[in-house]
Amino acid sequence: MPELIPILPEESIAAMVAAIGRKMSLDYEGRNPILIGVLKGAFVFLSDLIRQMTIPVIIDFLQTSSYGSETTSCGAIRFVKEIGVNIKDQHVVLVEDIVDTGKTLSFLIDYLQGFCPASVKVCTLIDKQERREKEIEIDYACHCLSKGFVVGYGLDFNEKYRYLPGLYHLKY
Ligand code: IMP
Ligand code: MG
Repeated sequence: MPELIPILPEESIAAMVAAIGRKMSLDYEGRNPILIGVLKGAFVFLSDLIRQMTIPVIIDFLQTSSYGSETTSCGAIRFVKEIGVNIKDQHVVLVEDIVDTGKTLSFLIDYLQGFCPASVKVCTLIDKQERREKEIEIDYACHCLSKGFVVGYGLDFNEKYRYLPGLYHLKY
């Protein structure tokens, strides 16, 4: 049986998300950014984040799928859902649940740059550095982890555990 080891309770996540929301509101004052959540993992984070922001924002979603094992993503990434809003000359923030190898993010940044936005920045709930393969700049991160597989608060293992309000290490 997999074991769930608590790493961050709901209250701590809420405080971190509020801090990021405040910072992004200051940084993007007057620029009406477009926040693009990466489904499915980022949906809980994005929905909490926008309610902590004090400036008008536009929301959209992307969904990719990668062929690989259950806990790692491999090189081949394809779209399940592409963006549905026009981002040309707009300020875009890509909102991720977790950055691991960085392959997904690097692929998505290249994809978004193709639409000629004014800027693309990255906001992630968790920055997991152990297996990073692609050099990417992360502009906003709530929490940094050196290693481990994390579930809860939108993050899954085989579609399980997304509903948990806190974050857990999954030991199996
Ligand atoms: P990357 O392309 O290796 O950076 O993988 C990023 C994606 O893999 C994330 O958006 C997650 O969907 C998934 N992933 C990587 N690590 C974890 C984890 O610890 N828990 C849940 N999903 C993860
Ligand atoms: Mg993801």
